[in-house]
Amino acid sequence: MPYLCSARDDTKIYKIKTMTTIIDGKLISLQIQEEIAAEVKAIKVNNGKIPHLAAILVGSDGASETYVGAKVKACEKIGFKSTMVRLSESTTEKELLYIVEGLNNDADIDGYIVQLPLPKHINEHNIVQAIAPQKDVDGFHPQNIGRMALNLPTYLPATPYGIIQLFERYKIDTAGKHCVIIGRSHIVGSPMSILMARNNFPGNCTVTMCHSRTANLKEYTLKADILIVALGKPEFITAEMVKDGVVVIDVGITRVISEVTKSGYKLLGDVKYDEVAAKASFITPVPGGVGPMTIASLLMNTLKASRKEIYD
Ligand code: GUN
Repeated sequence: MPYLCSARDDTKIYKIKTMTTIIDGKLISLQIQEEIAAEVKAIKVNNGKIPHLAAILVGSDGASETYVGAKVKACEKIGFKSTMVRLSESTTEKELLYIVEGLNNDADIDGYIVQLPLPKHINEHNIVQAIAPQKDVDGFHPQNIGRMALNLPTYLPATPYGIIQLFERYKIDTAGKHCVIIGRSHIVGSPMSILMARNNFPGNCTVTMCHSRTANLKEYTLKADILIVALGKPEFITAEMVKDGVVVIDVGITRVISEVTKSGYKLLGDVKYDEVAAKASFITPVPGGVGPMTIASLLMNTLKASRKEIYD
């Protein structure tokens, strides 16, 4: 268990144990969804415009189908309108750009996402750039990423926005802390490094960005007050790699075969949970930590889009 302070009783020094707080992303996500649902009710009472999210799914990748299905279901649950645009695997880039243009010009649609990855023959960058920045509720458009770097109002990408919400709602102190991020993806690690360094709460950290080419990774993880892991390697971070009292955010989620579960598989994070939790002050479990927050983030961004909070 982490020891954060000591108490003296004449001759003996007693280490005072602090509890490890397990960050309940599922609960926070549900709370956020309830808050948004209440807002939608108020909009309906006032005959306002119901927020409308669209999702484009190209092809039939199983994981993408599940993710998009969950997003559409969450919209229905909280009272948003949702539109699912299903396109075949053979859709050309030109055809997809035409659909994107249609959504840009559809006044009823407040925000939309193009589920990634796209089939290999379509250039993702061309598609993301074609999304109108004011409808880019994924926060992937270069203009929105630039606004994030400049600390201007913008749509934050779902996973980083979800993590920021967890820091906020659990009132986790970040100012002056050393935040070590493992993974430099455009969707998680890279935006997270910008957000944690910003002059904001959460933020004001000294950030170290580690990645697959980092030498002596353990030297860095051992110095982390806050460790954000988005690596995609199950149980990579072990107890001997972290210090007592560390805040651990585990973004990894890998399906592995299990002989114990009924389904025949289980989900593992990038962190060896039990042993690292024993040293951590805060930790996100997998599943039930960061994962559920991504849907809440998308809904929050869609509400912002419908309120024209970022762009007029
Ligand atoms: N694929 C994996 N994560 C995401 C996401 O957050 N948004 C989109 N559009 N595609 C994804």
